[in-house]
Amino acid sequence: MQNAPDAPEPPARKRVLVLAYSQTGQLSAITASILAPLLAEARIAVQVETIRPRRPFPFPWSLFRFLDAFPESAHLAPGEIEAPQFEADASFDLVILPWQVWFLAPSQPVTAFLQHPAARRVLAGKPVVSVIACRNMWMMALEKMKTLLDECGARLIDNVVLTDRAPTFVTLLSTPMWMFTGRRDAIPGLPPAGIAATEIERCSRFGRALRDALLDGRERGQAPLLSGLRAVEADPRLLTSERAGTRSFQVWGTLLRAAGKPGSALRPPLLILYLLFLILMILTVLPISLTVQALIRPLLTDRLAARKAYFEQPSGSGSERLAQYD
Ligand SMILES: Cc1cc2nc3c(=O)[nH]c(=O)nc-3n(C[C@H](O)[C@H](O)[C@H](O)COP(=O)(O)O)c2cc1C
Repeated sequence: MQNAPDAPEPPARKRVLVLAYSQTGQLSAITASILAPLLAEARIAVQVETIRPRRPFPFPWSLFRFLDAFPESAHLAPGEIEAPQFEADASFDLVILPWQVWFLAPSQPVTAFLQHPAARRVLAGKPVVSVIACRNMWMMALEKMKTLLDECGARLIDNVVLTDRAPTFVTLLSTPMWMFTGRRDAIPGLPPAGIAATEIERCSRFGRALRDALLDGRERGQAPLLSGLRAVEADPRLLTSERAGTRSFQVWGTLLRAAGKPGSALRPPLLILYLLFLILMILTVLPISLTVQALIRPLLTDRLAARKAYFEQPSGSGSERLAQYD
């Protein structure tokens, strides 16, 4: 049946594309919490696109598979994924991109998605809300993500970051053990690995703010939609270690990729060498850089504040709208 000529057009539903890849279910739970208010709103249509690697990554990981994933992760040269399933000419008002960090870079499945021609088409010119959930080292990965989004012609309008709140040296043990055993509480006496359930639940505040912004058409503007919601808290003291790690991943990654493709026989001996180097780095560079920074902190105040502000763009760590949305 056709509308009468003078009947008002029903308002178009806002279309939101959500990417999905999670090994442990942690990022899926965060995404579900953000999406709940959007799914409850009839004027918003949500389409979830699950990223499917052609050669799936195992969970829990074996030590070898874990280490063998580092050269291609760090070099943004991921294993292939299946073609995305959205229609080729699909158009979305907003893209929500939840992603995890692998070896100080966006995870391979997410990188592969952003490098896929179909994804590039659908992301061109679109506002993207990035949601990172990782151990606690994400700043260099965000720089790489910005490049990937630029290459798609997408606009990073917001960035939310969720990290494990335990001290760095605890998470450097508890996260790998979670990856190798599949259990968050694999080490008795240490806090469970990953992001706390209460924090995941509270992510619904981002969904409520996105819902209101979409209904107001604010996704078309330049201002972030999630400011004032404590979206991100950067720890700039970790940047020195992240930079050192990234440099070493570039060098060792080049060596390992020259030795063969993932899974090839020449890589395991080199990976064992690399593992020893990595442990040495974690035991030396990280504590030395944190201690030196603690000693000269008064001299670094301005630089650390500038770095913090830079990495907290665009959503920021302000909390002025928490009362409205939490
Ligand atoms: C291969 C691998 C490398 C990782 N590297 C980092 C890293 O460099 N920095 C970080 O904060 N977390 C790192 N993590 C933790 C992940 O970002 C993520 O929090 C965790 O794997 C949870 O998985 P899910 O989000 O797929 O459910 C790594 C995890 C894996 C499996």
